[in-house]
Formats: sequence, structure tokens, C-alpha cells
Amino acid sequence: MEQRADIKSILEWYIEADVTESCGSEAGLLQTSVAASGELPQADGKSQIAARQAISNLAQTTVAACKNARELCEKALSLEQLKEIIENFEGCALKFNAKNTVFGAGSDKAKVMIIGEAPGADEDRIGKPFVGRSGQLLEKMLRAIGLSREEVYITNVLPWRPPGNRTPTDGEVAVCLPFLRKQIDLIKPQIILLLGGSAANALLDNTEPISKLRGRWLEYTSTDKSKIVALASFHPAFLLRNGAQKGKAWIDFLRVLKKLKEN
Ligand code: URA
Repeated sequence: MEQRADIKSILEWYIEADVTESCGSEAGLLQTSVAASGELPQADGKSQIAARQAISNLAQTTVAACKNARELCEKALSLEQLKEIIENFEGCALKFNAKNTVFGAGSDKAKVMIIGEAPGADEDRIGKPFVGRSGQLLEKMLRAIGLSREEVYITNVLPWRPPGNRTPTDGEVAVCLPFLRKQIDLIKPQIILLLGGSAANALLDNTEPISKLRGRWLEYTSTDKSKIVALASFHPAFLLRNGAQKGKAWIDFLRVLKKLKEN
């Protein structure tokens, strides 16, 4: 318990000292690292110091990568420039295992922006978001409300595939979040549709489960503090495994269509 408290205070100190504006998920980062520390064996003094050092190094690296990503994003004046910046970014280790950087795709004038979690195996191989089974289901759902994938803009919280499609860590999300926020700044959609818990939690700065968040109109706050309406819904991969939930997702897509017509 004492060990946990120590690690928590080290991390809090780093985050306070190194991050002057929101990095998206500092609190999450802290939680991840503290949770990780809970798995540390009750080791002797030397191992505890080494473990604490390793955790504080990780926190420092993540905070620095986060800051670097934000600074790089400030220079991007277009989606093309942003894509190049992300392709050259080396602050997220996922990149080194990925075959491709998967940037957003669709219309740069899209009224609706759709955000998933991270590329899967097909997206990693092809280099485009939502081109596998989840993507086919997403396309069908879009078609059902009269939209094509070319009319919307589709992207992910992470531009690189986590190995084995594991859930992204809070650190990975925090580092990549500036890239996603910048895509939103450049597209300026009227509506954001968040598919799954990772996207909803990352952009709404909220930790509620998707089952609680879905179906309600919420607000995303842009870098310039303007608000964009956002709706969270189930991720198509979840719907492929839980067909009974498709009805709720259908209602969410109809809500998007209704909102689009109102605007
Ligand atoms: N799942 C996602 O969240 N994004 C993709 O691009 C593909 C599958």
C-alpha cells in the first residue's frame, strides 16, 4: 500500500511538472502506471527502487511524447501535413510493430466524423481504417441511413495496431490523442460518432462504460474550446459478436441521421 502511494506521488509530480496543458489522459496514465505497480512483487528494497525508477521513466517518456505530439500538431495546416507528421512520429512504440500507419479516410468536408479504436489486422495490412469485417458492417449501417463512406470521415483513436488487437493502454491513447484532436480541428465535423468505449472515453474525457454512454448526445470540446455534438455507440466488432445489440446501434445511427437533418 505504501509502495503504491509512493509511486502515485512520483507520477503526480511528473505530470504536474511536465505537462502544462491537458495531454488528454494524464489521469488515465497515472491509473495505468499505479495499476501496473500493483502487480509488482513485494520485492526487497533494491528491486522496489528499480521498479519505481522504471515506472517513473515510463511516465516521463510518455509525458514527453505527449508534449511532442501536441507541438508537432500545431504545425499541421492540412490533413496531408498531419499524415506526414504522424508517419514520421516515433513517440509511440506501437508504430514499430505495425505494418502501416493508418490515417483517417473520407471527405475532408465531412459533416459526420466516425471514430473507432485502432486498426485491426486488415487495416494494418492495407493501411486504411475500417476495411475488415467491422468496416463492412459499418458501411452497411451507414448505407442504411443514406450515407456512403466517402461522404463521412472515418478514423481511429490510434493510427497503429496494438499487437493482437489488445485494448490500447491509457499511455498510448494519451500520446496519440493530439493527432486525433487535430484531425477533428481540420475537418470541423458537425457530428462526431464514437464507436466503442475507447473512442468515447478518450474524446469525452469520461470513464463510464460504453453501455452507459451510448445513445445520449454529449459534447466534445475542441482545441479552440468550441463544442461539437457527439454520440457514442457500440463498436461494430462488438456488434459482430453480440448481434442482439444491433437494434440499439440502429437507433443510434437514426439519431445521427435526425441530427444531420436538423443542422
Ligand atoms: N476496429 C477499429 O476500431 N478500427 C478499425 O479501423 C478497424 C477495426
